[in-house]
Amino acid sequence: MIYFDKNRNTFYLEGKSFSYVFSVEEGYLHARHFGGRVGRDGLTWLNGAPAMAFSAMPPAGEGSTSLDVMPQEYASFGQGDYRTPSVLLEREDGQTASRFFYLSHEVGCTSDFGALPHARGGQTLKVTLKDVLSDVELDLFYTVWEDCDVLTRHAVIRNTGSEPVTICRAYSFCLDLPADRYETLCLHGHHCGERSPERTPLSHGTFRIESARGASSHQMNPFLALLRAGCGEETGECYGVELVYSGSFVLSAERSQTEGVRVQGGINALNFCWSLAAGEDFVTPEAALCYSKEGLGGLSRSLADFLRLHVISPKWAFAPRPVVLNSWEAVYFDFDEAKLLSLIDGAARTGADTFVLDDGWFGCRGDDTTSLGDWRVNLSKLKGGIAPLAARCRKHNMKFGLWFEPEMVSEKSELYRAHPDWAIGAPPRCACRNQYVLDFSRPEVVEYVYGQLAEILKTGDVAYVKWDMNRHLTEFWSKGLPAGRQGELAHRHILGVYTLARRLTEDFPEVLFEGCSGGGGRFDAGMLYYFPQIWTSDNTDAYARAKIQYGTSFAYPMSAMSCHISASPNHQTGRSTPFSSRAHIASLGATGFELNPAALSEEELEMAREHVRTYREMQPLVLQGDLYRLASPFEGDFAVLLLSKDKREGYLVGMCGLVEAGAYDRRLRLAGLREDFVYEIPALGIVARGDTLLHAGVLLPRLPDFGTFAWRIHGK
Ligand code: GLA
Repeated sequence: MIYFDKNRNTFYLEGKSFSYVFSVEEGYLHARHFGGRVGRDGLTWLNGAPAMAFSAMPPAGEGSTSLDVMPQEYASFGQGDYRTPSVLLEREDGQTASRFFYLSHEVGCTSDFGALPHARGGQTLKVTLKDVLSDVELDLFYTVWEDCDVLTRHAVIRNTGSEPVTICRAYSFCLDLPADRYETLCLHGHHCGERSPERTPLSHGTFRIESARGASSHQMNPFLALLRAGCGEETGECYGVELVYSGSFVLSAERSQTEGVRVQGGINALNFCWSLAAGEDFVTPEAALCYSKEGLGGLSRSLADFLRLHVISPKWAFAPRPVVLNSWEAVYFDFDEAKLLSLIDGAARTGADTFVLDDGWFGCRGDDTTSLGDWRVNLSKLKGGIAPLAARCRKHNMKFGLWFEPEMVSEKSELYRAHPDWAIGAPPRCACRNQYVLDFSRPEVVEYVYGQLAEILKTGDVAYVKWDMNRHLTEFWSKGLPAGRQGELAHRHILGVYTLARRLTEDFPEVLFEGCSGGGGRFDAGMLYYFPQIWTSDNTDAYARAKIQYGTSFAYPMSAMSCHISASPNHQTGRSTPFSSRAHIASLGATGFELNPAALSEEELEMAREHVRTYREMQPLVLQGDLYRLASPFEGDFAVLLLSKDKREGYLVGMCGLVEAGAYDRRLRLAGLREDFVYEIPALGIVARGDTLLHAGVLLPRLPDFGTFAWRIHGK
């Protein structure tokens, strides 16, 4: 609910349980509060000292508080605020200072995002500001929902003058938090080891996480949490920010001389500049801001609800997902029609309902050196094309899916031979997996790739697309852009990616698109807008996956994570784990198989079918439930509880790391349960009140190395 108090010029944005308050003071937007719900009381008594030594004051008549100390909603440059600005504009004569004053506001408006992903619905406030130094206006958008504890923000910069303006930086939001001792939590990683949580005290200066790779990246996720002192897994206060964006980004937390913290971010300003012609506007990506007074667990649950309710397509968000058998780790590039037909027969025996043909089916691709961009069936491998494979799937009552890497081109390909300048950069280019990134800033390139993919999807044989992206951008240069505008390439490129995703998902609404980028290299809210699930990591080892999925859960719902049972020993780590461990960890997401069923024993095949049966029973908890992290695999044991919203049904999964000789009994205390319910854990023969399980807990079972447990819990 959005409320504007005319007398005090104060805005109140209220979500499920938070308030976000700011006011217009002497023309400037003054941030007052983001946290627990407060009364509509103005909060004017929170005004601090108007300046500090060396603070520059606004010119006469333009304010009596230095912007250097004022908590702001969106900080401009060169007007006395020496903290990092949210926006930096350069005018034709080289001037860069701007000072934005409140002009007007509107409640209940919408914003045109084009193909940029954004949260759906909600109530939106637009506050329009005008730069007193130039002909630029700024719209700050805020959206709240009654059913969630997230607020989204983005900015639109409009050139109302007659000369072009260069945007050197345009962040999505600025959040000035009051003085406190904060810690940060980010999700860093690498290929095959994505999203490890790292918690660090915030020192003076700027803590900054970013990607300059043209993709959100494996290396750093566009999510940042700020924890107040004493914040733990289920207690204490914290904030989380998540960008609804998949390109190069930055998120920063700056602790200043006032001990206040400025959190902001959006498109990475490195190598970004955008020429805004007269009359044009520029829309920044959206940022989701979340407040929790129930620790990091509460934060994760709010973000998961927000993504499921308002970002992921309503068609898929809560829909049971296909149980896939994917061909990659089963056969890699080594297949022909006969081999795939028997793989499909094998897939049917596991209980999977969808077979996905991964890399290697197109052009003349026999390895990763050729053919990206030539999306026509490799007839020397698959003599009858796709149709016989899809028909065999239908015979088993299964669906058929196909892998694409739409944004890429191999040097050895018909497409590259015909259009060498359609790749980003000019030769000699850096090599990476023998492929180049197609220049999606050029509409004709997007159009061409759309045509190729649509041709195949139109046959109706394909119900599932795995959309991969296996290298990052280098030599940021487009033949389609003039010299002075190359700084627009990376953002225009990702807009092109979104345009293609939008067209394909709109034109083929029955097809489920799964995101992927060398595993989880583009696991972000932007991708989730178009693709309801993402291949979480190329690392399918159960122990490694427990960590990766645990880390991912800080910012994303379990249903967004694609999790498959793979072979043992594992292909990435060489580690052997029991089938049950692989199945239990793979049940914590959109489950499937990443193995060759021909290599499974009859007993394992029965375990596979049993896995699919129990998964289908508990899948509503993955799709709709709340997640409680009980034990961190980064500290030893791993345990999570998925609990239905009414707290009556639960699924508790855990993994013990390495067995230690003479190990002591370890207790696991549950979370989230209703104290007064009586719960039954049939696997343990326990019937106990919720408060008993919350405060006294249960004993962790003694299991072999990497052994797991998965228990159902019923309460009433
Ligand atoms: C990436 C994906 C894998 C697989 C391969 C195929 O690495 O993450 O799952 O599709 O590409 O080349």
